[in-house]
Amino acid sequence: MELREFLSELESAGELQRFTQPISPQFEAASIIARHDGQPVLFDNLPCYPGWQLASGYVAQRSHFARVLGCNVNALVQMMASALAAPNPPPCLTQAPCQEIIETEVNLDRIPIPRYHPMDGGPYITAGVSVIYDPDFGRNISFHRLMRISNDCLVGRIVERRGTHTAWQKFKGELPMAVCIGLPPHVLLAAAMSPPKGVDEVSIAHALAPTPTVRAITAPLEIPAESELVLEGVLTHEMTTEGPFPDLTGTMDGTREQPIFRVTTITHRRNPIFHALLPAGMEHKNLMGMPREPTIYAAVNEVTRCTGVAITPGGCSWLHAVVQIEPQGPGDAHLAIEAAFRGHKNINITVYNNHVF
Ligand SMILES: Cc1cc2nc3c(=O)[nH]c(=O)nc-3n(C[C@H](O)[C@H](O)[C@H](O)COP(=O)(O)O)c2cc1C
Repeated sequence: MELREFLSELESAGELQRFTQPISPQFEAASIIARHDGQPVLFDNLPCYPGWQLASGYVAQRSHFARVLGCNVNALVQMMASALAAPNPPPCLTQAPCQEIIETEVNLDRIPIPRYHPMDGGPYITAGVSVIYDPDFGRNISFHRLMRISNDCLVGRIVERRGTHTAWQKFKGELPMAVCIGLPPHVLLAAAMSPPKGVDEVSIAHALAPTPTVRAITAPLEIPAESELVLEGVLTHEMTTEGPFPDLTGTMDGTREQPIFRVTTITHRRNPIFHALLPAGMEHKNLMGMPREPTIYAAVNEVTRCTGVAITPGGCSWLHAVVQIEPQGPGDAHLAIEAAFRGHKNINITVYNNHVF
């Protein structure tokens, strides 16, 4: 389901708040998003950006993923575990909505990239899913926050040893990369997963729900066709200062020398919707925590019967997990707790809960 269709469904269900008054992406949108954290919002009057809309909060609740996947909230962990275990390669279309408009004269100033907080290093893309191709492992998609530094360049936070970083190190020249923005919820969820190297997250997304792809215009990459906006370009070996910007915990992350992403072509839908994800907000928390639940679920199921896992916002959706089991014998609670730590290395508190019928 495309993002715009999903937002219409939320609106029909009375779950989306639409703002029709003029709103600036410079701080004003973020302050409204923060006040409504947990709720989907849509800004459709951005005075300096005619034709654009800004959406936020559409993956701020687990029920948003369940709605897209047509399942119950409690079934999400099994759905994610099944998709991870059996990725399904998607079809590649010859034309796609994300290429309705093709701009070869790049000007990032025409895109409503928000500023969230006065201390931020600059305007930030926070829900950009980067697609790259690794010569040894194939396609990888993952989130990288990107700070605008000029009208055709951004600087990305490329965490060491993850998919994009590994591929970038192999390229002495420039690594072709496409940043997709305004994606359906299930594609965001798959992009936030860390399957073993060589496993394609777009195929995981397609195992969750249909995720057609299309070939990028300038890069040898097949990208999610239902993106609202795509920045095609190259991740260079030129470095500049990235940050500061808040991390998942809401603490200000410092500055680092990071690679520059040079945009060579922009493609988008007519009247594109830009996804503004609030750092440390509920969307950020869900997308960080939920993808770790199926790995805990699989690890605990190796030692006993696991019936549910939730990574909770109290631990910033990264550090605390609640695991539900149906004990098969004495000592299963301890075994489950140990297994949960193997399933997600960063948790420091696991609470177990006996399944009661
Ligand atoms: C909202 C959000 C923002 C993220 N920002 C970054 C980031 O700026 N840099 C980064 O390297 N990882 C970031 N991540 C984490 C990666 O997307 C995530 O670890 C991904 O699973 C890595 O996949 P890979 O190991 O297959 O490359 C972010 C994740 C989310 C959900």
